[in-house]
Amino acid sequence: MASSKEFDTSDLDPDEFRELGYQMVEIIAEYLDSIDDRPVFPGKPQEEIEAVFDDPLPEHGQDPADILDEWPDRVLPNATHLGSPRYFGFVNGSGMPMGALADALAASVNMNSGGWKAAPSATEIERQTIEWIAEMIDYPVDCGGLFTSGGTMANLTGILTGLRAKAEYDTKSGGLQSSDRSGQFTLYMADHEGHTSIYRVAELLGLGNDAVRLVPSDDDFTMNVDALVEQLERDEADGDVPFCVIGQVGSINVGAIDPLEEIATVCEDRDLWFHADGACGAFGAVLPEKRTQYAGLERADSVTLDPHKWLYIPYECGCILIQDESKMAESFAMSASYLEGTRRTPYEGPDYYEIGPQMSRGFRALKVWMSLKHIGVEGYRAFLSRSVHCAEHLDSRVRESDDFVALHEPNLYIYSFQYAPQDLRAAAAEGTVSREAVDEYLDELNQRIADEIQLSGVAFVMTTSIHDRTVLRLSICSHRTTPEDIDRTFETLRDIGEREDSDLRRTHGLEV
Ligand SMILES: Cc1ncc(COP(=O)(O)O)c(C=O)c1O
Repeated sequence: MASSKEFDTSDLDPDEFRELGYQMVEIIAEYLDSIDDRPVFPGKPQEEIEAVFDDPLPEHGQDPADILDEWPDRVLPNATHLGSPRYFGFVNGSGMPMGALADALAASVNMNSGGWKAAPSATEIERQTIEWIAEMIDYPVDCGGLFTSGGTMANLTGILTGLRAKAEYDTKSGGLQSSDRSGQFTLYMADHEGHTSIYRVAELLGLGNDAVRLVPSDDDFTMNVDALVEQLERDEADGDVPFCVIGQVGSINVGAIDPLEEIATVCEDRDLWFHADGACGAFGAVLPEKRTQYAGLERADSVTLDPHKWLYIPYECGCILIQDESKMAESFAMSASYLEGTRRTPYEGPDYYEIGPQMSRGFRALKVWMSLKHIGVEGYRAFLSRSVHCAEHLDSRVRESDDFVALHEPNLYIYSFQYAPQDLRAAAAEGTVSREAVDEYLDELNQRIADEIQLSGVAFVMTTSIHDRTVLRLSICSHRTTPEDIDRTFETLRDIGEREDSDLRRTHGLEV
């Protein structure tokens, strides 16, 4: 048999590894140092970026140093910089550097956090970190939970656990095709701010997205709980089988928090699963000034959080907490001799594949564990309250300006508003131009403003729809954003708005 020395593993030898590793650290350090100066978005058409990476399948190995060069030469110039202090797209977090180091360490050992034996320290770190997260948001610390790829998978895990727990028959064995099912399973969320990932969950679970029932909201965009009760009664009378109510804990367009205490009571009274979707906002529970809005969160059967959003952890990292851990085991337990081994020994522990949807799993917990140790809850409190302050600052700029309209009170870090020149609003109010014509014009204008600011590279802002109108939306989910970044972005939006307005009015023939 050939000695291991003669067998080429293609592992980098230690000196080569060090050399490349130091270069890589240098590239990352320089990048982080220059992130504020980079255009936030590459602003190139898709075909152009596709062409950059149009390489043949590498038949032969290449020099690692040349591969590393591709990062600054080809990847970075075509990246969108979510870590920029003026990136405000989707609900994307900025990614703290400690997470990048943690990911490298996790990959170097390559534990599989699906099973304890393949990941003893990773499993225990995950268990500890989940407990810390529960403690941070004042959720019972004896809950179960795990890290997921993101909020969607956390919602799936929570809602599936709820379905298994509340269905009147064993859905794990019989599935949804069982003749024991007495009607259509239904789940409930607020009509304006309920998140689209819940539809995805309903589709993945085979419930179908028709199963998602939209409950009317109040003027502050939170669920009207009287309407929820009426709808539950109507659906039950029609033969449906409600099993879950989803409360938003920081909503996607306006950062609203549903009345959690009231939803919890409805769910308790009717034996429904209460799932809190806190992907955007659950971490805000650490802020004393916001605490009262979170009352009732501790009563949720399950809570989704997204460390890759408002803990600024690099992708991917979602999280689900489940009040009664045994319900997770009832949902996800699996059995196979090749997983368990044949003999019980002391050298085993909890296996995450038994309480969640994934079997093989990466060591996501490490980046949260290291970041929490690095920043501390106190440090996070300061970052989160600065995100909130930035949203409030933006709101005050909007309200001071004649050409912008505020659409809601700022609550957490997501803020939506509209560019709407005063003369056009006055014309619509006086009836010299029809309200519909002005609304349609403003939809197009706001979309153009978002597109143009993205291309400018100064900031990345997107639109959303509020009460069916296209509006600007900033998700200020970066530990680097300051009020000065908000000022710069706001002023750029205003300048682009003025320019695009005069252009677009000409093409629309809109005279006021
Ligand atoms: C309220 C809410 N729930 C769920 C999700 C889905 O999270 P992810 O994109 O991490 O899957 C999001 C994403 O923005 C969200 O805002």
